[in-house]
Parts: sequence; structure tokens; C-alpha cells
Amino acid sequence: MATGTSSRPARPGRWPHLLRPGTEDDPLVVVRSSTWNYNSIGLWSGDEVLLVDPGLSPAELELTATRACTARQAGAPRQVAHLVLTHAHHDHLRGATAFPGARVWMPRIAARKPADARERILAAGERLSRRVRGEPGPLAWPAVDEEFGERARIRFGADMEVELWFLPGHSNCTSVVWLPAQRTLLSADYLVSPGVPFCRHEASLFEAALERLLALAAELPIERVVPAHGDLLEGEEAVREGLLLDLGVLGAMRACAEGLEPATPAAEAQERVVAAATAFRGRGAGLLSAQDEDNAERVLREVRAGRD
Ligand SMILES: [Fe+2]
Ligand SMILES: [Fe+2]
Repeated sequence: MATGTSSRPARPGRWPHLLRPGTEDDPLVVVRSSTWNYNSIGLWSGDEVLLVDPGLSPAELELTATRACTARQAGAPRQVAHLVLTHAHHDHLRGATAFPGARVWMPRIAARKPADARERILAAGERLSRRVRGEPGPLAWPAVDEEFGERARIRFGADMEVELWFLPGHSNCTSVVWLPAQRTLLSADYLVSPGVPFCRHEASLFEAALERLLALAAELPIERVVPAHGDLLEGEEAVREGLLLDLGVLGAMRACAEGLEPATPAAEAQERVVAAATAFRGRGAGLLSAQDEDNAERVLREVRAGRD
């Protein structure tokens, strides 16, 4: 998710809060933001911590890092050794400069965004800063230590291993994070609200990413998904169902768009493609209707381009 989604005002005392506190057996910390249902993520092992898309507000950065650095730790706090930025949308970059000394990992295409793209992304972040009072925290383009292509592996702490997979679709620069020991996929902006895919790039590429995740879910024991926004998916079946629902919705939109007469007026085409998504889901998109409309536009644009 980048822009255009709903935001809620901060509710002191309740936000941000720990969704997953991290335990000896499951050292994964998830902090829920007051904005965009954002999830900040930390993982500890031994004396080290890895953070993923660290948080929108100073309070979230503090809570996630403090919890991951100090939970069940006798003596000196753990150090934030690695920082993974899944993609170059401003909500995922925010706070990246708050941990000097951490090695910063990012997909190569995200790290090498040209200057004009960087300006656009940071400007979108500044618009969020003005809209959400009291939030968010520092936003600057990160200095990336480790650019990766298709895959990368990070070993840290007491033999913890984490895999980074480049998976464009949500954007052209998105990646996801696989935690083998936790059987957990940190899915960035995939599966943020199953049934309303958050496509901010090409719909066909988003569908390809979902297909790849589905294939991975058949090979690997993905028992939990932590998206960057929204609720966690628990259990292999829930993960599979979420992927199939998103794929089904995009497929229904595409089938509808392909079946339209080329002369169909644009407004009617849009309405019918959105209706196809509603019919497949069995419900409207509710607060996410703007994203539903946006998905329809992207699908229609692709189908029209394929006819030209
Ligand atoms: Fe996002
Ligand atoms: Fe995003």
C-alpha cells in the first residue's frame, strides 16, 4: 500500500500496540500502527535483531525495536543488526534511517530508483505526514548496504536464517521475506486484505506473483502470513484461501473486461468490472472500494492495450 487508503486518527493509550509480543519459542514481534493497519515487524535471535519495514511513527519504531531488543534478554539489549525494506513505497521506507549501524537490505530495483521517482515517493510520504497528526516519523531515502536481485539470505544471531525473495507485482520493486524457522511469510503488501488485492502496478504481474506464492505454499510449510497491513493469516489453509481469493477476484475482473464489447463506454465498463469482483467475493469492498475501482482500471487498461 502506498497512498490513497483510509487512515485513522491516533488513539492514545491504544495505538500502537503489540499484535505479537515475541516469545522464546516464537521470537517474532509485530506492532500494529494507528495508520493504515500497518504492521511493523521485528525478529530476534541471540544478541541480534532484524527489523522489516520498521514503522510509520516514532512510537512504533520505539515499541518494535525495544521489544525485539529487550524481550527475554538478560544484560545488554540486543542490537538491530539488519533492516529489510521490502519495497520503495514511503510507508515501508519510513524509519529506515533510525537505526545507524544496521545493514540495510533492499531489492536492487528499489534501491536504484531514479531521482525523479525518489522525489515522488518522498513527496507522497510528506503528504501523509501533513494528513496524520502526530505521525509519522522520519522519512529520508535510505542508504542501502545490500542490494539483492532474485534472492538473498541473511544469517544473524544464534544461527537464524531469513530469505528475501524478489516478487514484483504489488509494485515493480516488491519483495517478501521467508522465515523458515517460524514457518512464516512476511508478505509485504500482498494479502493485506484478501479479496481486495492491493495492486499498485500491473494487474497481470500481481496475478503472476500470487501464482508464485501459491506454488511456494504448495512446496513450503507456510503456516502464517504477516502482511505489512491488516490481519495475520494463520494456518496453511487460510494462506491458500487468501491467495486463491485474490487470484479469483482479479481473474473475474479480467474475464469480465475481456468479454466486454470494445465499444462499451468507459464508465459502464468500469462498473461492470467492479461488479464482477463483488460477485466473486460475494460482498462489496467496503472501505477499500477505492482500491477495488483502481484494480478495475488497471485490468481494463491491460485488456484494452492487448486489443490495440
Ligand atoms: Fe504498504
Ligand atoms: Fe506498497
